[in-house]
Amino acid sequence: MTTTAIITGASQGLGRAVARLLAARGVRLVLNARRPEPLFALARELGAIAVPGDVSEVAEEIAAAAGDTDILINNASELGPLPMPLLENYPWPELLRVFKVNVIAPIHLAQLVLPRMKARGAGVILNIISDAGINAYPGWGGYGASKAALEHASRTLAAELEGTGVRVVAVDPGDMDTEMHRLAIPDADVSQLAQPESVAPKIVELAAA
Ligand SMILES: NC(=O)c1ccc[n+]([C@@H]2O[C@H](COP(=O)([O-])OP(=O)(O)OC[C@H]3O[C@@H](n4cnc5c(N)ncnc54)[C@H](OP(=O)(O)O)[C@@H]3O)[C@@H](O)[C@H]2O)c1
Repeated sequence: MTTTAIITGASQGLGRAVARLLAARGVRLVLNARRPEPLFALARELGAIAVPGDVSEVAEEIAAAAGDTDILINNASELGPLPMPLLENYPWPELLRVFKVNVIAPIHLAQLVLPRMKARGAGVILNIISDAGINAYPGWGGYGASKAALEHASRTLAAELEGTGVRVVAVDPGDMDTEMHRLAIPDADVSQLAQPESVAPKIVELAAA
């Protein structure tokens, strides 16, 4: 039987590396990101379905395109305004947006795929979190608090789904040389950062376990 996976934020970085590995295993993929060109290019390369758009606005379209979903990887994420403001000065519409993309959308997607996962007694929801959700880095409060919330939502969902056969996993991929990292810390020494392609096999292992 064909395995189906949804990956949000799939057009580059970690999402793209995971998509390539899952495609090589014959997994049917539904990929999402906002910028259409790189998303459609990857979908063509992998024979995948592309659903372009902001994940906080197209969750229903993503779930409908996937149908019966075995693996949901909530990977899309936003840093918020750059340079990242202190919480004291954080424009609240931007703060709402960061939470909508990084926390609410992943929960919404989980809600959409869960009924069929539960009916089959199998499925994996994998949420990508960050050490910024644990450590208090000044300026990282919006993004960090959203990742902390996603981690807690993952724990709660996992507890609620115990015994159903559906697993919920939250994974911190660690520092990687990606656009997000370059935007957050432009002067970082990239030679010290992992490539997303070296992190992706661990994510796939967790999804497939
Ligand atoms: N890089 C690190 O050091 C690091 C460390 C810890 C955790 N993480 C986490 O790892 C995950 C992957 O990040 P990455 O480093 O691979 O970043 P990346 O290379 O910048 O990729 C981010 C992906 O998400 C998409 N995206 C962003 N906002 C979106 C939205 N609102 N709706 C749909 N797609 C959206 C981007 O495409 P578009 O811009 O076209 O939408 C892109 O495909 C994120 O959850 C991040 O928080 C990264």
